Amino acid sequence: MTSVGIDAIEIRTGSLKLDLPGTFAPAKDEDPEKYTKGLGLNASSFPDSYEDIVTMAANAAHRLMERKGLRPNDVGRIDVATESAFDNSKPVSTYVAGCLEQVNDGDFHHANKGERKFACVAATQAVDDAYNWIRAGRNRGRAALVIATDTALYARDDPGEATQGAGAVAMLIDEDPSVVEISTEQGYGSADETDFLKPQQQFPSVDGKRSMQVYLARMREALEDFESVSGDTHPDDYAYIPFHTPFPGMVRKAGLLGYRHMIRDTPVEDELAEEIGRQPRREAFGVSGQGPEASGTSSHVDEAGYEEAVREHMDALKGTDAYHEWYGNTIEPTLTISREVGNWYTGSVHVARASALQHALENGVDLAGQRLLVGSYGSGAQAEIHAETVVDGWEEEVRAFDADEQLAERYDLSFEEYEEIHDAHNHEKDTDVDPVTVPEGEFAFTGWGRMGEREYEYVN
Ligand code: COA
Repeated sequence: MTSVGIDAIEIRTGSLKLDLPGTFAPAKDEDPEKYTKGLGLNASSFPDSYEDIVTMAANAAHRLMERKGLRPNDVGRIDVATESAFDNSKPVSTYVAGCLEQVNDGDFHHANKGERKFACVAATQAVDDAYNWIRAGRNRGRAALVIATDTALYARDDPGEATQGAGAVAMLIDEDPSVVEISTEQGYGSADETDFLKPQQQFPSVDGKRSMQVYLARMREALEDFESVSGDTHPDDYAYIPFHTPFPGMVRKAGLLGYRHMIRDTPVEDELAEEIGRQPRREAFGVSGQGPEASGTSSHVDEAGYEEAVREHMDALKGTDAYHEWYGNTIEPTLTISREVGNWYTGSVHVARASALQHALENGVDLAGQRLLVGSYGSGAQAEIHAETVVDGWEEEVRAFDADEQLAERYDLSFEEYEEIHDAHNHEKDTDVDPVTVPEGEFAFTGWGRMGEREYEYVN
């Protein structure tokens, strides 16, 4: 069977940075530790006024193509995943292809282009589409370019404002990949939910607390579906578990829930039982596995008692050395980049994978042959979990990452500049804001054309 997976990854951050504890918290009169400790964020990335979802996507894809020595003819498919699109008809991938044609000989006229939408899970779905296209043998030897790109902006003073971010992740999906091979094992947790949506509006309507509950519920459902294919999961099965990371504090909750699930009925639970007792079992409280509505009606059903017991057990589990060690090795390394950039929506889970791979390289981890469990989530809502195996050659690919350099070079905004740049990207406001950085060797937005299309130029 042909091995298909991710052959190359490039990350492109917005060129501006908002320091959350240093600049945002004082302006909001809030404790900086709410951001650093509570949400787990140090900074957000923002696009300068000449940057947007197209420039970030095209800049990431351009670097990827240059580095891999690819010509347009080598690419049979360009899919962009975004929840920040500015056009209901013309897909962002056509703009990206137009940009790339400015700097490449040849064109993408025979590449299939599209745009994928399902909140933050869309890029994972686009990777899936590319995988299926190759496995079906319809790619004619060509690779697929999948790009996640978003300006994750919230309305000013929305609680989500602290979790904003902007960036793109370009991934090349190909046969005999050099980073990870994607497995066919996959699970879904999907339901019609109203937690985060943008009904014909730029900034989201968010029920933040509910969105966190839905994330966890759908992720748990996806894990159970995944296990129905792969068999039971165990914490030692995976070198890293990159999750969708709207902010690292969310992943802290998902990690704990996942660990509790994975160790149930294993020797790990037996060992921990001496310290914190065994996990509460639904049956002991008369609660069925299908949630409260499906539980029996006898007087023995104690849903509240079960939930309280679970909460207490989770608090105790969180304090054990076993959990700390697992979290520190398996989850923490996935959060390094996210802490500095905020939420990149569709790109976030792919940033988490990149962060883990970078950590492995820096720490000399022998990762080839080891597995990753990737947990994606999109509001609305759907979680998807699948396994990947890191392949030989991954170090060379990861060594080419320049994420650290890009992050270090970002312009550090004052709060007043942040307000201006937020307005500059607000579609409702007609604000002309001078850029604070100078584009160099990259695509830049140059203005609007006669039909309201956006125009771009490569600036040397
Ligand atoms: N020191 C340490 N921790 C602090 C703190 C302080 N001074 N102040 C607050 N915190 C902690 C809180 O206890 C909370 O952690 P917990 O959930 O583990 O208890 C965390 O920081 C966030 O604080 P909270 O008061 O809940 O923040 P908020 O009401 O401003 O909203 C979100 C947080 C996530 C709901 C909001 O940012 C949001 O709506 N985000 C967008 C939606 C989203 O990303 N959803 C995720 C699923 S996709």
